[in-house]
Amino acid sequence: METIIFDQQLEQAVEALKQGEVVSFPTETVYGLGANALDESAVKKVFAVKGRPSDNPLIVHVYDFDQVKPFIQTKHPLAEKIVEQFWPGPLTLIFEIKPESLPKVVTGGLSTAAFRMPNHPVTLELLRQAQLPLVGPSANTSGKPSPTSSAHVYHDLKGKIKGIVEGGQSQIGVESTVLDLSNPNLPPMILRPGAITKEMLEATLGLEVLIDQHLVKESETPKAPGMKYKHYSPDTPVMMVAPKDLLHAVRHFGKENYRLGVMATPSQIALIKDQVQTCFAYEDEKVQSAAKGLFSGLRQLDEQSPKLDLILVVTFENKGLGMAYMNRLKKAAAQKIY
Ligand code: TXA
Ligand code: MG
Repeated sequence: METIIFDQQLEQAVEALKQGEVVSFPTETVYGLGANALDESAVKKVFAVKGRPSDNPLIVHVYDFDQVKPFIQTKHPLAEKIVEQFWPGPLTLIFEIKPESLPKVVTGGLSTAAFRMPNHPVTLELLRQAQLPLVGPSANTSGKPSPTSSAHVYHDLKGKIKGIVEGGQSQIGVESTVLDLSNPNLPPMILRPGAITKEMLEATLGLEVLIDQHLVKESETPKAPGMKYKHYSPDTPVMMVAPKDLLHAVRHFGKENYRLGVMATPSQIALIKDQVQTCFAYEDEKVQSAAKGLFSGLRQLDEQSPKLDLILVVTFENKGLGMAYMNRLKKAAAQKIY
């Protein structure tokens, strides 16, 4: 199959989706792999194309909350307030759904499902024109860093999907926060950290938001099935390093004759760049820029030829958006820290 880049031709992308084809769409977090959520065979193609385990449920993408209401069994008392404040945006909400209202392939057989209204004008228009809820896992081969540009999607999935809707670089760069609202009697719980942070939710709601203990203690089993898989890892080994240890680490691996790549902020890169084969500098010192650059940096350094022996990536403080950055980085590094 030839993979088409849909630039201005949204109608063609809509038509392909209606016919049960798989089309990648841009979002503010990462690119998604779209298919009609109500068409079981279309959704099965998504799993096949990604090589994704079938017990890992998908997010249903919508263009407004009204599109979600028919699926919901029990609405959480805070749902409307959260939607009003954070949609469209990088926040996925889990609701208890009406039995059989979505195919089992979408929910992984759970009684709940995940919904999100992405904040990207092109994809909102695509969703409106299609008048279909679309599943949208990140459009990468399962286990690889998520794609933040159409070129990343093309690299992983060319020839395997009908097309990619061009939407520029993803501005946030890490996947949405997943928030569990499935039990109306419990406070919201974060199952996956993202750009809508615990602090932001608590400020809006005026109450404590819970956090899945697995995100704190690695020994717990995650409540979001997807969080248990190896993720985001390039072929080249990745290791975390605290900014204060960066120079020491670079010297250490330099002595061992490692071909080394480093991902860090511009000021950190300035300290070590003479001693490193390949550097990837985030746009500036802020954690927002680190999150935006994380996956594309990992992809870029993984493609060096000859291959690097190790990619060192600087850590950020584990709070706010830093929690999402560190969550993805820990997975990419398989917990290894210098
Ligand atoms: O930013 C994003 O959310 C991107 C863009 C494309 O929208 N999509 C994305 O989808 O990251 P995916 O499939 O890679 O991640 C979905 C996450 C997984 O961790 C999955 O286990 C969790 O959401 N999830 C889905 N349905 C769930 C449910 N019913 N209960 C708990 N977790 C669920
Ligand atoms: Mg993913």
